[in-house]
Amino acid sequence: MPGVPTPPDFIPLIVPEIRGNEWEYVKECLDTNWVSSVGGYVDRFEKMVAERAGTKYAIATVSGTAALHIALLLAGVQADDEVVVSSLTFIAPANAIRYLGAWPVFIDAEPRYWQINPAGVVDFLDKCCRWDGQALRNRQTGRRVTAILPVHILGHPADLDPILAVAAKYSLPVIEDATEGLGARYRGKSLGGIGHAGCFSFNGNKIITTGGGGMLVTNNAGWAARARYLTTQAKDDPIEYVHNAVGYNYRLTNLLAAMGCAQMEQLDTFVEAKRQIAGRYQEFFVSLPGIGLPEEADWAFSTFWMYTLLIDEKRSRIGSRQLLRELAARKVQTRPLWQPIHRSPAHKLSGGPLCPNSDALHGQAISLPCSVGLTPSAQSQVIEIITSLLAKETSSARDFHSHSPSDCSAHS
Ligand SMILES: Cc1ncc(COP(=O)(O)O)c(C=O)c1O
Repeated sequence: MPGVPTPPDFIPLIVPEIRGNEWEYVKECLDTNWVSSVGGYVDRFEKMVAERAGTKYAIATVSGTAALHIALLLAGVQADDEVVVSSLTFIAPANAIRYLGAWPVFIDAEPRYWQINPAGVVDFLDKCCRWDGQALRNRQTGRRVTAILPVHILGHPADLDPILAVAAKYSLPVIEDATEGLGARYRGKSLGGIGHAGCFSFNGNKIITTGGGGMLVTNNAGWAARARYLTTQAKDDPIEYVHNAVGYNYRLTNLLAAMGCAQMEQLDTFVEAKRQIAGRYQEFFVSLPGIGLPEEADWAFSTFWMYTLLIDEKRSRIGSRQLLRELAARKVQTRPLWQPIHRSPAHKLSGGPLCPNSDALHGQAISLPCSVGLTPSAQSQVIEIITSLLAKETSSARDFHSHSPSDCSAHS
């Protein structure tokens, strides 16, 4: 059998859950020869995701990164522009900005829900930029600021209202990176459908997966048509091979969309499973010393897609990385959060205000096994190991000190 064998009793961080109509729908594609980039399942998958996101349009793509790339193009981002983006995120949105020759401006996370700090976005735009009569420009670099790209991380929404308000003030489009937020809601609204465009990923660790894939959602008919055109090599005359623009081969195949349809049918069950896993972890960890549990804002419905907690080494007497090693030695897979992108060598030429909260969160965060199919006994095993590694006390810790976001000094 292909694939990497897993040792017995190994508890993975997060793996796909294939238990619905995936086999049937994929087989139908194989049986009917509809395996490529057009087909009924692509249309159906797009419809299902659009319905979920509450948008009029959805365009399936080969990946979430491809969706972000196209969304930024639609937003009009050009070479040497700047795009305001979260510092604490997987690297893909920052890369997508660089694909266009534009520059990310990294904004710190807020300490409570770990999402992009809206006050940081507002402060950067109000205090570190100026309107020159035609465009909003970063005072330090002189570059145009042309979009905001908040990333909803770990299944919890970012606080969008203040971001949307400042975006409206400066006529900036907001592209939601909702790749980790399918099924989550902000003030009752589904993520991805709140900004001018939203992007989802269906790679192997996401709440639903197509193996690899993505989706761009929007209510803008012009953007949707342009996205469809650009993701299919910008064909103006498909018979004579005339192309009036440089397009991309970014369309999702019918084969993968078939899997996506089957997975979408199970989304609510998956969200429920994730929330139950999170609830159980919370119940057992709330009394452990030096642990910061993920919180759900009263304006949020979180999927707890990737269950992550913070370890305060001073109080727990064990650091997040040591805990990771101890768990690995006991066949439990965990991960730290991403290196904050303002620290990434790949983005060392980008700038933005200081990001101390992202740095602190990165040092303390550890993500625990949280597959939809995680069994209660496997979860108990994880809980027992962690509990035995941490001395029991009665209080939990949360020691972050918010940093004033108004500091315009570049961190690079
Ligand atoms: C926040 C974030 N943005 C973008 C992506 C990119 O998605 P994909 O891997 O489908 O390109 C991911 C996941 O990988 C992600 O977690």
